[in-house]
Amino acid sequence: MTLLKISKMGHPVLWRKADPVDNPSDPDIRALVENMIETMNDAGGTGIAAPQIYESLRVFIFFVSPVRAQSEAERLGFELEGDGAVPLTILINPELDFIGDEIDESWEGCLSIPNLMGKVPRHRSIRYRGYGLDGKLIEREATGFHARVVQHEYDHLDGVLYPERMTNMRQLIFSSEVAHQRPD
Ligand code: NI
Repeated sequence: MTLLKISKMGHPVLWRKADPVDNPSDPDIRALVENMIETMNDAGGTGIAAPQIYESLRVFIFFVSPVRAQSEAERLGFELEGDGAVPLTILINPELDFIGDEIDESWEGCLSIPNLMGKVPRHRSIRYRGYGLDGKLIEREATGFHARVVQHEYDHLDGVLYPERMTNMRQLIFSSEVAHQRPD
């Protein structure tokens, strides 16, 4: 496995619509995903999309820890099913649908926009599907932080970064200043 350089905001690979993967079970895709996992873990990210390692392909991976799921659920006031954690998930050629009209606002960061965070409105509930490395279809419904992570990563495949989703640029801040933000 190889640690890869992460593309940063301003690089054109992050603005373009990524291409579908022909064969999710291709060994080259497995190698790509293994490198994405290593790179994401090294950088301390919750998720990473292929354009963030300069590969314009419709692939992303993510992971939601029980601690993160719990804290977001408490903050936004909804009940978790189980611990709310999501195991490391690999999604190839994903599709995304919104469920209902409810919108939550919460802070997001991005490995391609280091040191910053922004408050981003996202749909509270979604349904998504995509292929794993074994070529099997994964289909899930997600709420809260899980749904937010998937929407953030899915945007990378369409060339969208989170500041473009924001409604108030005063909520784009350095992470080191987060203690100065008023609680919701
Ligand atoms: Ni990102």
